[in-house]
Amino acid sequence: MDQTHVEGDLDLDQTLYTEEQIVGRLQEMAAEIQQDYEGKDLLLVGVLKGAVMVMADLARSLDRHVEMDWMAVSSYGSGTKSSGVVRILKDLDTDLNGRHVLIVEDIIDTGLTLSWLITNLRSRGPASVEIATLLRKPEAQQMEVEVKYVGFDIPNAFVVGYGLDYNEHYRNLRCIGTLSPHVYS
Ligand code: IMP
Repeated sequence: MDQTHVEGDLDLDQTLYTEEQIVGRLQEMAAEIQQDYEGKDLLLVGVLKGAVMVMADLARSLDRHVEMDWMAVSSYGSGTKSSGVVRILKDLDTDLNGRHVLIVEDIIDTGLTLSWLITNLRSRGPASVEIATLLRKPEAQQMEVEVKYVGFDIPNAFVVGYGLDYNEHYRNLRCIGTLSPHVYS
């Protein structure tokens, strides 16, 4: 589904970022990452399912070898509010001992999921753990955890597309759009 879908969908408000803007920003982030990790091995850890698209475009923008692994955690139920409860649904296949790990996220809202994930991954003996996220909401800026690479700081709206869902819908929208408040209020 592309941007034209947003206009015809009564549950969507407006396009926040086009596919071009997203991919362009990911390329800039990739250039930064490439510089920072020069001469080091790099393991990208994607958080399922939302980070699938971010991982695909970020990883392909890197002009170097990387490994990719995936984790699935649940922090959201079927609404728009964070439950605060984090559960591992799928763990990594990779041993993190001595590895440089970059967590690849789609969005940080309250930061609850990420704080938990960082503590969990740091306990596995990696050389380093950093975070790259495409989107960050205002509340997350007060987080103690430093987010090294941020695509866009966005207002406090519920967004969908480019991997992000509302009740498992809209993940395959190419752009990022805002959900109309009438859907969840
Ligand atoms: P946090 O723990 O509040 O930071 O929530 C992080 C997770 O909640 C993300 O990885 C998403 O899966 C989900 N999430 C938070 N905000 C949104 C949104 O606006 N749209 C879709 N999913 C969201």
